[in-house]
Amino acid sequence: MNKGRLENRVAVVTGSAVGMGEGIARLFASEGASVVVSDKDEPAGMAAAESLGREGASAIFQRADVRREADCRTLMVRAVAAFGRIDVLVNCAANNTRGNIENTSTELWDDIFATNVRGAFLCMREAVAYMKEQHRGSIINIGSVNAYIGEPKLMAYSVSKGALMTLTKNAASYLNQYRIRVNQINPGWTLTPGERRVKAEEGKGKSWIEEALRTRPFGRLLLPRDIALAALYFASDQSECVTGAVLDLEQYPIGAPPNW
Ligand SMILES: NC(=O)c1ccc[n+]([C@@H]2O[C@H](COP(=O)([O-])OP(=O)(O)OC[C@H]3O[C@@H](n4cnc5c(N)ncnc54)[C@H](O)[C@@H]3O)[C@@H](O)[C@H]2O)c1
Repeated sequence: MNKGRLENRVAVVTGSAVGMGEGIARLFASEGASVVVSDKDEPAGMAAAESLGREGASAIFQRADVRREADCRTLMVRAVAAFGRIDVLVNCAANNTRGNIENTSTELWDDIFATNVRGAFLCMREAVAYMKEQHRGSIINIGSVNAYIGEPKLMAYSVSKGALMTLTKNAASYLNQYRIRVNQINPGWTLTPGERRVKAEEGKGKSWIEEALRTRPFGRLLLPRDIALAALYFASDQSECVTGAVLDLEQYPIGAPPNW
């Protein structure tokens, strides 16, 4: 039998109660990793970790709101207490609340940055303290192609994902000395339960989504597993010399006007 690509590895995935984060946790577990499912949504996060456990994975849940420094610290302490080390950190938690340049409140701007940028920074800093001792680690930041196209209705979100990319590049060059790699995945439009909910709130139901996906060159939208497969590459030794990389997963040329 093939050994999993993450055998004996420990992975912490923020925002992994549902959607993309859950898909990443699931694939990592199926590749042999021990997984710390983390989210601010406790019931959903517990359910995700229990579901992985029922499938034979080694998984625990630790609640963490990445806006809170103490939560980020406790998350890493719990991961090490449970599994002895941290090999992989995926920063997936995000606030994607809509708002354009005119109607974005200061509070919304601050919350988006506290989650998408500061939260990633805090988790990285706390995880690096352990990875450094191991002289090994892989950090994967989940950005968005909105960092480039700047969808008008996602103003602060788009800016935050651009800032995250700078954080990825900056941390990658510094953390080379500890053999800690930092890479970023920028997904395009991905069909997650969260996306379905947002679209439904905008009055765009199942038939709108079916129509939209007919316009996709590959005939379907990205799914959490597509992003998880990219994350697996960055988490595994297959990318052992890759750091500071940004992988854009988009079916259209970056910068093309979005039509969703
Ligand atoms: N779905 C898409 O089309 C798409 C496209 C590009 C990038 N992304 C990015 O992919 C990632 C996952 O997207 P998704 O669609 O699965 O999102 P989602 O909204 O479905 O799930 C996000 C998860 O993060 C959690 N979360 C939110 N704020 C948090 C906080 N402060 N602390 C801890 N957890 C928190 C939520 O509870 C939720 O479980 C995000 O970083 C998002 O920006 C998504």
